[in-house]
Amino acid sequence: MVNILIRYLGIKTKLLEPLSCAIKNVTPKNGTVLDLFAGSNTVGQYLLKDYCVLSNDYQKYSHIAAIALIESHKKYVIDSLLPDTIYNKYYEVNINSLKEIFRTPLLKEEELLSHIGETYYGQSFDEFVSFFDNSPYYGSETINKHVSFNDCLSFFEEENIQKYKKDPYIFPHMLFTTYYGNPYFSLSQCIEIDSLVYSLRMLLKTKSISEEQYNIYLSFLLYCLNLTVISVGDHFAQPQKIKPVSEKLDAPRDNVNLRERKKIIEKKRQTIKSLFIEKLYDYKKNYEYGNPLNKAFCKDYKELLASSIIEEYKVKTVYVDPPYTNAHYSRFYHIPETLVLYDYPDIEFFGRYRTDRFQSSFCIKRQAMDEFKTMLRLCYQKNLNMVISYSDTAQCILSIEEIESMCREYYGNNIIFDNAAHMYRNFGQKPNKVLAKEYIITCFTEMPEDDS
Ligand SMILES: C[S@@+](CC[C@H](N)C(=O)[O-])C[C@H]1O[C@@H](n2cnc3c(N)ncnc32)[C@H](O)[C@@H]1O
Repeated sequence: MVNILIRYLGIKTKLLEPLSCAIKNVTPKNGTVLDLFAGSNTVGQYLLKDYCVLSNDYQKYSHIAAIALIESHKKYVIDSLLPDTIYNKYYEVNINSLKEIFRTPLLKEEELLSHIGETYYGQSFDEFVSFFDNSPYYGSETINKHVSFNDCLSFFEEENIQKYKKDPYIFPHMLFTTYYGNPYFSLSQCIEIDSLVYSLRMLLKTKSISEEQYNIYLSFLLYCLNLTVISVGDHFAQPQKIKPVSEKLDAPRDNVNLRERKKIIEKKRQTIKSLFIEKLYDYKKNYEYGNPLNKAFCKDYKELLASSIIEEYKVKTVYVDPPYTNAHYSRFYHIPETLVLYDYPDIEFFGRYRTDRFQSSFCIKRQAMDEFKTMLRLCYQKNLNMVISYSDTAQCILSIEEIESMCREYYGNNIIFDNAAHMYRNFGQKPNKVLAKEYIITCFTEMPEDDS
């Protein structure tokens, strides 16, 4: 079973069968496969039963997900994961301190959420919208904020955050509370998240848990963020606004907007604790042990391909799924990245994006072709098979013809060019329109053996 911690842009859940077929064609059983742009780590998980799997991605949150999902952990480590370890005295002391500091807005938020009931319009709802729209965050103007924050506004200001930037370990932890409150997360969810991080860091510092356990617990928190964030498309890129409805509820978009409002309120009422515990047990139940050599890396792909890791792990095949539109993952997933780094970063704009976010050359029109060629060259020089997935839509930075011609430049005729919809037809399944736009290109170093 594939465990999904993050609903990811470009996730390959629909391509798992054809991808594993393409990989199988060129990789001996138990050989090593490197998932070079692992993202959600969905593909790597699917390959666990047949191969040694290496995972890589430049983003730190993907690395944490890979440690939890791809690396092999001993049974006693999996058994040791328990809610009581995390919901401990450290958690309590941090949450109580934050509850004290943010007492008035917390009570207000709770009252507003309960007064709405199941009615997503009218006065009670509008009062909630005023709280939702006017919650302060670090970097925002502190004037005209919701009145309930009046006695704690100084915590959102530069002077306080500077202290944390210098030492992100000071007590109480309050990064999410001061950076990512409404619309992104409720104030109450933020203080839960900060307190969980505090608990994890204290457990690590006092050697009550290992780094391995720390990373696995942190991956459950990624799952919680994913299910509670209020943002356009649920991808963290843009905080979502609550849309107006007409007084008589007879405007054409009212039903859609009311449904959206209901979804927002349901998410706001969700506790991090219930999701965290749900994921912890689900993970323990479904954990796949895999090859003990499985390993997660967090590097620029060029650095990894040029390193001795390829030889050390006897990598045979590289699965290549680079970004193919101009959407930078570092912008879409800036909040999971900050959760993992927990470093009180400099941020900008209404989206509160990290200013140091990584710009991938695959997302930049004038650089993408050279980047693709560099990747092909590095793989070819190391005698690696490549299985590449790329899409053929108007948003794609490179055309499928450009990809094919670059592959031929390095691998000559040692190329199998497949359309995912056709591959599904070969498995006797009905393909759909989305799959018709997906391509799988296999570049091989030796002719694959014919199974027929
Ligand atoms: C299309 S997504 C991969 C999706 C993945 N196959 C899945 O199923 O979830 C591309 C990934 O490439 C990563 N990436 C982009 N540029 C990179 C680089 N130069 N080195 C390493 N990773 C990079 C992004 O962070 C992103 O997670």
